[in-house]
Amino acid sequence: MNDKLNDMTIVKQPIGVFDSGYGGLTILDELTKLMPEYDFIYLGDNARAPYGTRSFDVIYQYTLQAVEKLFSMGCQLIILACNTASAKALRTIQQRDLPLIAPERRVLGVIRPCVEELGLLSRTEHIGVLGTLGTVRSESYLMEIAKLHPNFTVSQESCPTWVPLVENREYDNEGGRYFIKKHIESLLSKDEKIDSIILACTHYPILSEEIKSILPDHIQLIPQGKIVARSLKDYLNRHPEMDQVCSKAGEVKFYTTEFISDFEEKAGVFLKRNLKAEHITLD
Ligand code: DGL
Repeated sequence: MNDKLNDMTIVKQPIGVFDSGYGGLTILDELTKLMPEYDFIYLGDNARAPYGTRSFDVIYQYTLQAVEKLFSMGCQLIILACNTASAKALRTIQQRDLPLIAPERRVLGVIRPCVEELGLLSRTEHIGVLGTLGTVRSESYLMEIAKLHPNFTVSQESCPTWVPLVENREYDNEGGRYFIKKHIESLLSKDEKIDSIILACTHYPILSEEIKSILPDHIQLIPQGKIVARSLKDYLNRHPEMDQVCSKAGEVKFYTTEFISDFEEKAGVFLKRNLKAEHITLD
C-alpha cells in the first residue's frame, strides 16, 4: 500500500468508523454531533456479527480486513467503534500491522478514552462493566482501570444475548426485557456499592431505555459515545498533521457487508434519519 502523501497537495480523506454491525452507530452519532464538519465512512460487518462470542484469532482477522478495506478507501484515521475489536485486535494492529502496511495512518479504539474519564464519574469507586464475552474475557477493562485507577473495584458481566437483540431489534418486548433484566441483576449482585456502569459494548446504548427502567436511580450509565467523540476531537487538536488530512464537507457514507435494505432501515431507526448504504465485501 502506498502511504506517501503528495508533498504539494494534501489529499484529504474521511475518518473511518468500524463496528461488527449497528453498535458503532452510537459512536458515529456522537462524532457527527460534536464534529459535524468532518467526513466519515461507517463500515458495519453485519454479515459476520456478533463478534463478541468469537475467538481472538477470528476477531483479529476480521478487524484487520476491515481496517485494510477502510485504508484502501483512503481513510488515514480509523476508529474501532467496537469494544470487542478494541479489546482483541487493536494492540496487535497498532504494534504489528500498522508499521508494515501504513506507518503514517492511525487506528484508535474506544476502551482507553472511556477508562480515562472514569475517575471523574464514580463517587464510590465501584464500577460495573457490561460487555460481550470477548471483551469481558480479554480483561481489557480490568487491566486499563487497574493502571489508571488502582483503587477502583470492578465487576464484569458478559451479556451474550444483547447484541443479537439489537441486531434483530428484539429488545423492546417481553422476551428482550427478560434478557436485559437478567444480566443487570446478575451484575448488581456482584457488588452492592456499584454506582457507575460502563456500557462496554457500542451496541448497548441502543438498550439504554430498557436498562434505565431496571436500574436503581443512584446508578449512572456511562455514555461511551460522547467520551469517544470528545477524545477524538482532542486527539485531532493535538495532532494537526492528522487533522489536516481529514476531509471536512460534513458527509457520512455507510457500508455494510449484509443486505443494504436491512441496514438502511435499521440504521435509519438508530440514527433517526433516512440514509443510503452500499454493499461491501471484506474477505
Ligand atoms: N459493538 C461491539 C462491541 O462494542 C461488538 C458486538 C458484537 O459484535 O458482539 O463490543
